[in-house]
Amino acid sequence: MSDLLDPTIDKYLDRLIPAPAAEWSAMEREGRRRGLPLIDRQVGRLLELLVRTTGAARVLEIGTCIGYSTAWLARAVGENGRVLSLEIDPDRAERAREHLRAAGLLDRVEVREGDASALIETLEGPFDLVFNDGDKRHYPRIAERCHDLLKVGGLLVSDNALWGGSAARSGGDADTKAIKKHNTWLMRHADFTATLLPVRDGVLVARRNDRETSR
Ligand SMILES: C[S@@+](CC[C@H](N)C(=O)[O-])C[C@H]1O[C@@H](n2cnc3c(N)ncnc32)[C@H](O)[C@@H]1O
Repeated sequence: MSDLLDPTIDKYLDRLIPAPAAEWSAMEREGRRRGLPLIDRQVGRLLELLVRTTGAARVLEIGTCIGYSTAWLARAVGENGRVLSLEIDPDRAERAREHLRAAGLLDRVEVREGDASALIETLEGPFDLVFNDGDKRHYPRIAERCHDLLKVGGLLVSDNALWGGSAARSGGDADTKAIKKHNTWLMRHADFTATLLPVRDGVLVARRNDRETSR
C-alpha cells in the first residue's frame, strides 16, 4: 500500500494488475500476515517491464525477503536469464527458495545469504539490472558500486526512494539521510540518467551511461 497516494486510487491500480500465478498470491498473503515490507504489484509490474524492455538477463537483487520481488524478476528474465539475490536473514532466504521452487523459478535464481554491504564488494559484473531494496543505510554505497557493476545501458532500480515522503523534507533519521544522498548522487551524476517515479513509495530508475552519451 502506498503512503503517498489516495487509498482508493492505490487499490484501483493494484486491482488492475493480475497475479501472474497462484504462488504470487500466496506470497502476498504471507507478506500481509507477517507484516513484511514487500513491493506491491505496481512495482512488480514495473520491474517486469524494465527487465523485458531492456532484455536484461543477468540481474542482481539486494533484499530478497521471502522472494516476492525475486519472482517478478525471475519470471521476466526468462529461462536463460539468471537472478542473484542477497538476503541477510537465513530464514527469509530459505522461505524465498521454497516459494521460488513452488513457482518453478528456482533453477534461474541463487539466493545468497549474507550482508549485502560486504557481498556487493566481492561481486563481479557486468549486471544488466540491479534491484536495490535492502538496508536503506547502504543505498549510497550500493549506488556507487553499481557504477562499476552495471554494464553501459544497465539499470539500477531502487525502491523506497521517497521513504513515505521523508526524502522530500529537511533533516530525518539515518535511513532518510542515506536515501536522500543516494537520490541526489544518482540524479546529478554525469554517468547516469535517472528519474524518480512516484510509484508506491518512490522508485528511482537510473541508467548507466558511457562518458560520451552522458554529455
Ligand atoms: C524491503 S525487504 C525486501 C523485500 C523484497 N525485495 C520484496 O519486495 O519482495 C528488505 C530485506 O532486506 C534484508 N536485509 C536487510 N539488511 C540487509 C543486509 N545488510 N544484507 C542483505 N539483506 C538485508 C531484510 O532482511 C529484508 O528481508
